[in-house]
Formats: sequence, structure tokens, C-alpha cells
Amino acid sequence: MYVRRAYVREANRPGRAERGRWPFTVPCVAELAEEGLTFQAPVTFLVGDNGSGKSTLVEAIAEGFKLDSYGGRLAAKRGRPDSVKTALGEVLTLETTAAGSRMLGGPRSRKQGFFLRAETAFQMTENLGGVPGYWEDNTAEMSHGEGFLTVFREMFNKPGFYVMDEPEAALSFTSCLHLVSLLHELGQTGAQVVCATHSPILAATPGADIIEVGEHGFRRIKWDELELVDHWRRYLTNPDNYLRHIID
Ligand SMILES: Nc1ncnc2c1ncn2[C@@H]1O[C@H](COP(=O)(O)OP(=O)(O)O)[C@@H](O)[C@H]1O
Ligand SMILES: [Mg+2]
Repeated sequence: MYVRRAYVREANRPGRAERGRWPFTVPCVAELAEEGLTFQAPVTFLVGDNGSGKSTLVEAIAEGFKLDSYGGRLAAKRGRPDSVKTALGEVLTLETTAAGSRMLGGPRSRKQGFFLRAETAFQMTENLGGVPGYWEDNTAEMSHGEGFLTVFREMFNKPGFYVMDEPEAALSFTSCLHLVSLLHELGQTGAQVVCATHSPILAATPGADIIEVGEHGFRRIKWDELELVDHWRRYLTNPDNYLRHIID
């Protein structure tokens, strides 16, 4: 593992005025600022409704490790300097392990890791096909899901710090299962993954730590107890349980 904890230093804690403004109005961000968030397993999932703050968290965590949405190796060339940060990224500190400190303090070329953002991931698969050091296959000729899986296989093959925001967006059920096996393998081989997801398939990755984000802030929870899993179970058993409330 590379990152043990994400927290806000005393001196950077929001004052009363700031607590009334975004992002500290988001309950999980407020809790992070107060308590910090520990990472207890190589693979951590953040699960929660739209707007619960998952992207805000993972973006700031990725920034803390100097990853951006184009990945560590190309970040410098892509023009977004490290100094441009999100509001939470400005104040967030990562407590790294010895391996994490070495990687973060070392040259960019030795940094292994990636921030995969749902909104930009597909564009990225198109732009980076054929760039040396990235994947060889031409992902533009593949379907959306195939391109994603190719990228995942090529990019996530070394120990490093991988941050992902809803990587399941383009994936079928079967492709999600492939991604589960990749994530699990990453976790088993010394990498660390922090992943925001709506997918009950991904969240079931064996050995993963699941943090449910919502009005309450955040809490550790078992897969079985996730609201998301409960909704899917009930919907698949009988869609009408839900549909009768929304369709006349
Ligand atoms: N740059 C921003 N400025 C103000 N509010 C924002 C900004 N980005 C996100 N928000 C708000 O913060 C909340 C959490 O958003 P987000 O982290 O994207 O949630 P999620 O990824 O869980 O859907 C939402 O209410 C969203 O509208
Ligand atoms: Mg999001």
C-alpha cells in the first residue's frame, strides 16, 4: 500500500465561514476534514448516491498523489500544473507508507499510478492509443467497453496507486467481472486502488474495503449491507416494485 490515510491538517481545517461553503457542506468532506479517512485494504471502494461527494473525494486524493486524469507519466506534458487543485485538494494531506513516500518523492518516471475519471476516460483511450509507454492496440477501432478493458489491462499492470471514478461506466456485466479480477490482482500484487463506484459487481471484489458515503458522512460497511445492493436485489427480483412508483 502507498497511502494509509487522507486527512486535513489542523492549520488547514475550515473555519466557521468555510464550513458553510462547498466542499465542506458535503457531509463526507466535512467528516474527512474532522476525522480523516484511513485506508485499511489494498482495494477501497467509495459507494454512494449521486451527489454524495465521491468524485470530490477521489479527485482530491488523486491530486494528493500528484496523479491527474491523464496519468502520472503524461501529466506534465498535458499542461495542467500540479499547482492547480480542487478546493478539497488544496487542503488535503496524504499520509503515505514508506513505499508511498518513495514513489511520491521520486522522479515522475518512476511513479506508477493513474487517475481514471469517468468523464474523460473514453477520450483518453482514443488520445493515448499508440503513445509510447501506453498501450499498443489501437483502441479507436474497438468498442467502448473493449477499449476500456484494454486500457485497464495495460495501465494497471504494475504496483502503484490507482484512483478511479466510476470505471464501470462503459462496461457490460462480463467486462465488469474482468475488471474485478484486475482490481483483485492489483490488490494482491502490492498496488493500491481507491475507486468510486455504483457497481455492485465491482464492490464485491474479494477482500475490498467498502466505504458508504452519504448524508451521514462516511462509514465502513459490508457488501451485503449496502443500500445499493439491496436496491439491485429488489429491482431484479421484481422491477415493478420500483416502476409502479414512477410510471402511471
Ligand atoms: N466545483 C463545484 N462547486 C460547487 N459544488 C460542486 C462542485 N463540484 C461538485 N459540487 C457539488 O458537490 C456535491 C458532491 O458532488 P460529487 O462529488 O460530484 O458527487 P458524486 O461523485 O458522489 O456524484 C454535489 O452536490 C455537487 O453538486
Ligand atoms: Mg461522481
